[in-house]
Amino acid sequence: MGRYEEIYQESINDPVGFWDRAAKEITWFKPYERVLDDSNPPFYRWFVGGELNTCYNALDRHVENGRAEQTALIYDSPVTNQIRKFTYRELRDYVARFAGVLRSLGVDKGDTVVIYMPMIPEAAVAMLACARLGAVHSVVFGGFAANELAVRIDDAKPKVIVSASGAVEVTRLIEYKPLLDSAIEMASHKPEKCIIYQRNLVKAEMTPGRDLDWEELISKAEPVDCVPVKATDPLYILYTSGTTGVPKGVVRDNGGHAVALRWSMEHIYNVKPGDVYWAASDVGWVVGHSYIVYGPLITGCTTILYEGKSVGTPDPGAFWRVISQHGVKVLFTAPTAFRAIKKEDPNGEYLKKYDLSGFKYLFLAGERLDPDTYHWASNLLNKPVIDHWWQTETGWPITANCMGIEEFPIKPGSSTKPVPGYNVKILDTNGKELGPNQEGIVAIKLPLPPGTLPTLWKKDDKFVESYLSMYPGYYYTSDGGYIDEDGYVWIMGRIDDVINISGHRLSTGAMEEVVAKHPAVAECAVVGVSDSLKGQLPLGFVVLKAGVNDDHEKIKEDLIQMVRNQIGPIACFKQVLIVKRLPKTRSGKILRGTMRKIADGQEYRMPSTIDDPAILGEIEEALKSIGYAQK
Ligand code: COA
Ligand code: AMP
Repeated sequence: MGRYEEIYQESINDPVGFWDRAAKEITWFKPYERVLDDSNPPFYRWFVGGELNTCYNALDRHVENGRAEQTALIYDSPVTNQIRKFTYRELRDYVARFAGVLRSLGVDKGDTVVIYMPMIPEAAVAMLACARLGAVHSVVFGGFAANELAVRIDDAKPKVIVSASGAVEVTRLIEYKPLLDSAIEMASHKPEKCIIYQRNLVKAEMTPGRDLDWEELISKAEPVDCVPVKATDPLYILYTSGTTGVPKGVVRDNGGHAVALRWSMEHIYNVKPGDVYWAASDVGWVVGHSYIVYGPLITGCTTILYEGKSVGTPDPGAFWRVISQHGVKVLFTAPTAFRAIKKEDPNGEYLKKYDLSGFKYLFLAGERLDPDTYHWASNLLNKPVIDHWWQTETGWPITANCMGIEEFPIKPGSSTKPVPGYNVKILDTNGKELGPNQEGIVAIKLPLPPGTLPTLWKKDDKFVESYLSMYPGYYYTSDGGYIDEDGYVWIMGRIDDVINISGHRLSTGAMEEVVAKHPAVAECAVVGVSDSLKGQLPLGFVVLKAGVNDDHEKIKEDLIQMVRNQIGPIACFKQVLIVKRLPKTRSGKILRGTMRKIADGQEYRMPSTIDDPAILGEIEEALKSIGYAQK
């Protein structure tokens, strides 16, 4: 039996013993009484009775154990031309003082704090300060519009919101404060205070009585110590797209999360304390939570917080510059970032300018790593390029080529094997387990390992309904795929209405809800069509109300603007087709899957339940007129 097989089997056959051993890497204030509480299925809780503090594990213990002067965080911002470094001691002190600020505003254990910030160190400081107090943070990605922020404010009900005056998107200045103000105006829940970090880029207008200046508060703040919390207490809520306009509030606990991330850093990414680890993502996404902030810091690594892109900041050599300048051992990003580099620098001319000798592995996730991009990156770098699959819900990888356990030969297009802890199965629609090479629904047999979502924020019922009730005893991933004869997992894409744009998860249902509000629209469908750079892009099909004679171009522009204003620029909603009718089943269900296949020029089967097959021909013609549906 190989090393992977041995460890994997152990994790499935004896999860209690396995995770009990892994938990030794975490500093507990009070030992747990039970590793796994399985008395109330389908709810499982890890490390019950234990007490710890995630911020203590990420910062204080390293200061106390010889890493005080090691760099904890490097902020590298090509868009503002700055590099700032924080040792573990400096970061601990900064976080302790900001925790003091939050406490002086009445934030306590269990209170919620929304963080709406660009990629600046203060975003990580605010997250860690919440963890220090046992408060629950909810970070909202900066590319979401005010309406999306308002929905999250109403669900999380924060006592305080932490934000900044603005950011630079490549070269475009984005003011955050007007977005924050209008979100608060829209939301029914009002935060007591907002703390605003004023950046030199732009000055935010402050609302007297509500808004407070970060620098002013921090200059007067008293540091506070870490508050012990239960392993099962929530550390954060992170909202993610579901199939409707209402995002799901994924909850992460403290104990299981710390144990799982610490284990994953060494066993999946093969990094050790002291190594430099870089996740080129955003703190607004799960990758940013797990692998910019918590995972590397809990492990005692140096983490990089990068405010830039893979291209345009300033050129396609940006990633190589950061890797060589800061001695990065592992880079984790999304395939789209590499497709962007490939497009601008296909022969890797920029790479030649930098010394990448310390760089060991490139990990990619967020969307399937397409074989073309895999081959390009792997030939260019001559290092392992590893696809790994996971979700906001799991918080850490479900399948991977675990570099810290045993390196497997890569099969391009597959994210290799289940990570220890995850009992991955393929089910048919009746919930029967399928054999090798049979494609079906990818599910995970319960219990899920530590670090995965214990529930949705204040919605236990919705948690069960969304993930656990379809196939009792399994977690439903919403991805389709198969496991081959060698045990490699092949994730083929979502089987719901969630689409993946540049490794970001967005809901076509949410976009439809916005489009349908336009007074000229009778009905609509939004589907995700393939895009060579971003993986997928949304395409709207719109049927106008009878008698609407407005200019079609104007309607399209309005719809694009509405989605941009209500969901955000990150939705990349830029294409609308006005059609006479939508293809439907006889029971009235819109055939979105068939429309997507036609758009992508794929073979499709005429659905037996279709109401009027002629409509598919009309859709194909309309798609051809804008360059889609090419075979
Ligand atoms: N605040 C405000 N607006 C933002 C934003 C933010 N934080 N992030 C993105 N946007 C805007 C962009 O400016 C762009 O607006 P535009 O339509 O006016 O051009 C839109 O949202 C789409 O952004 P993006 O998808 O980032 O596209 P891009 O063309 O600017 O960049 C890539 C293309 C490939 C370089 C970029 O998508 C990328 O690096 N992706 C990696 C994704 C990633 O790390 N995912 C995390 C999972 S690991
Ligand atoms: P998110 O919750 O935003 O991380 O998105 C999770 C979804 O992204 C998954 O359900 C998959 O559909 C997709 N995804 C993420 N990583 C991969 C991968 N390596 N291969 C295929 N799909 C992926």
